[in-house]
Amino acid sequence: MLHKQEEELVQAALAVQDQAYAPYSQFAVGAALRTAKGTLVVGCNVENASYGLTMCAEQAAVAAMIAGGEREFGTIVIASRGAVTPCGACRQVLAEFGMNSAVVLVDSDTHEVQHRWLVKELLPGAFKLLS
Ligand code: THU
Repeated sequence: MLHKQEEELVQAALAVQDQAYAPYSQFAVGAALRTAKGTLVVGCNVENASYGLTMCAEQAAVAAMIAGGEREFGTIVIASRGAVTPCGACRQVLAEFGMNSAVVLVDSDTHEVQHRWLVKELLPGAFKLLS
């Protein structure tokens, strides 16, 4: 039984996965995060004919969080076929805003949570500028 707040994120990630623009890979990804203040923010992947310009779902969700004026998240739920783990670039983007944040991976075929990680487990030693 999932915690109610997490269940809400799972449903939001699955719903936004349907909005993905993925005509080239046909691989739709949805992401939903909960900010430190409790706001639910979503993102999906947005592909481009110039393939390298593709934006991942996690990056879209983080961009929306920043645009909304927040800079910390507690949990991000990512929905995809097979519950794939975030790519390396997304791990670095997530690390910028929450090394201790939770990453929950959901299989969109079964709607089951398959994995739970912390960002610091997915990207130990993330790059940070010296201050
Ligand atoms: N994708 C994501 O949205 N997040 C990831 O962490 C890995 C890959 C997207 C990018 C592209 O649109 C599709 O999945 C196939 O790579």
